[in-house]
Amino acid sequence: MNTPIADTPLDVAPGDVQRVSVSFDINGKKHHFDVEAWTSLLDLLREHCHLSGTKKGCDHGQCGACTAIVSGQRINTCLALAVVYDGASITTIEGLANGEALHPVQQAFIDHDAFQCGYCTPGQICSAVAMLEEGHAKTAADVRELMSGNLCRCGAYTSIVAAILDVGEFADKGARS
Ligand code: FES
Ligand code: FES
Repeated sequence: MNTPIADTPLDVAPGDVQRVSVSFDINGKKHHFDVEAWTSLLDLLREHCHLSGTKKGCDHGQCGACTAIVSGQRINTCLALAVVYDGASITTIEGLANGEALHPVQQAFIDHDAFQCGYCTPGQICSAVAMLEEGHAKTAADVRELMSGNLCRCGAYTSIVAAILDVGEFADKGARS
């Protein structure tokens, strides 16, 4: 008879911390970490890699402040366990500029005054960069829909959409929401 799972002895003593080795390409540089198994990508970026541009808003997958681009996809890093993404390439807000030249989306946010407090801005910009790469947004309405996971408590949405419309190819590029 098989031993019931509940009776299977664990080789982990109570209080032991399980650490896992992971490595990432972050903004073009290789990094290795030894992290607790429950470490989120967000905490890895902020606490272990000292890249604090990626923000912790809700820590529950509801605001998008923690958005980074992981293997080409925008994700909420607060919901992503680092161990699951071991080996991935990560681009954060710190990695978007090319030397002194801002990424076009960063520049457009400045040109359109698309922020107030700025807390949501790194997530908005990373999300917009990936969304433009995805190529599904054809209109301002598409932008609003596809950026709806990124909340802005300052309500800068009109300027955020205008900034994104300026960078991408949109049928209603001249229109303003
Ligand atoms: S901090 Fe991740 S979605 Fe809010
Ligand atoms: S600019 Fe303040 S939360 Fe968006």
